[in-house]
Amino acid sequence: VVALIITPRVEQARVWRQLLSERLPQMRFRCYPQLGDPAEIDIALSWKAPKGLLGSLPRLKLVYSLGMGLDHLLDDPSLDRRVPIVRLVDPNMVEQMSEYALYSTLYFHRRMDVYERFQREQRWEELPLPHTPMRRVGIMGLGEIGADCARKVAALGFPVRGWSRTRKQIAGVRCYCGDGELDAFLAECDILISVLPLTPATAGIVNSVTLEKLPRGAYFVNIARGGLVVEADLLDALDSGLVDGVMLDVVAEEPLAPDHPLWTHPKVRITPHIAGLTNPYTAVEPVYANLKRFLAGEALQHLVDRGRAY
Ligand SMILES: NC(=O)c1ccc[n+]([C@@H]2O[C@H](COP(=O)([O-])OP(=O)(O)OC[C@H]3O[C@@H](n4cnc5c(N)ncnc54)[C@H](OP(=O)(O)O)[C@@H]3O)[C@@H](O)[C@H]2O)c1
Repeated sequence: VVALIITPRVEQARVWRQLLSERLPQMRFRCYPQLGDPAEIDIALSWKAPKGLLGSLPRLKLVYSLGMGLDHLLDDPSLDRRVPIVRLVDPNMVEQMSEYALYSTLYFHRRMDVYERFQREQRWEELPLPHTPMRRVGIMGLGEIGADCARKVAALGFPVRGWSRTRKQIAGVRCYCGDGELDAFLAECDILISVLPLTPATAGIVNSVTLEKLPRGAYFVNIARGGLVVEADLLDALDSGLVDGVMLDVVAEEPLAPDHPLWTHPKVRITPHIAGLTNPYTAVEPVYANLKRFLAGEALQHLVDRGRAY
């Protein structure tokens, strides 16, 4: 069985190759752009493959997303819909994502955004501090990452709301589901954290209509995908005071253009898509386990439902 490893930087593909070859000596691994004969490739392990590449592999039997998101694969029309896709689910990355959710919650809850400014202005001034059990945190998306974020934020004493497509039950979290309960969910989010996958159903879900449903002066955090947000609407909501602070790890066009107003808006904090980073040294274990299942003809874990697009 031959697998092609595709990553934006070939050095990272080589790390994957070494880690996987040690564990699966019966498989052969190639690193893009060293394709060899495309007709020999059975599996693509891919993070951001150039569009059209996967469609040019005639024997492809499996695509493995080396990131937890799938939008980088599903927007490639060349990829045959019949080829199964599995995605990386790495507990280490889930932990990193929850750290970011916890950090942003505490950052806004404790008004560090304002105290940063006060320091620059050499202003020694105290702001009111809402009681933690009064500061409601809403997590949009209660999957592998969102459910972990929800539990950990709740463990700090914040009342947590969650929203997903299907009904969830998470101890200590008030769970809403479906489009019909979105407004009720949003109305209870003093801090809204987005961990939704980017799909046709979620693209642009954070827009002028939904932002209007938040309590006035809410905070918004996006650690999922920039395409979930209509950025012009978010900027308007900041300027009108509807939203009081924003922390974005992801934006619609990455890297963010040098002249984009998000860079310099005083109420926006930006990080360059670092909330969760794929670390091959930890991520190799779930990938190895799943490839072993593939070789044994067993059912695969984290198989993607093409119809739902996540
Ligand atoms: N910034 C970063 O560094 C970084 C790192 C890793 C991942 N991510 C992003 O995080 C996303 C989430 O990852 P995950 O592993 O938690 O995904 P997941 O396990 O697939 O969970 C997705 C969650 O979103 C919900 N959902 C999907 N479509 C929905 C809709 N139309 N309406 C309401 N809820 C919907 C799902 O509902 P159900 O539970 O009902 O199915 C589920 O709870 C990834 O897709 C990726 O884009 C970002």
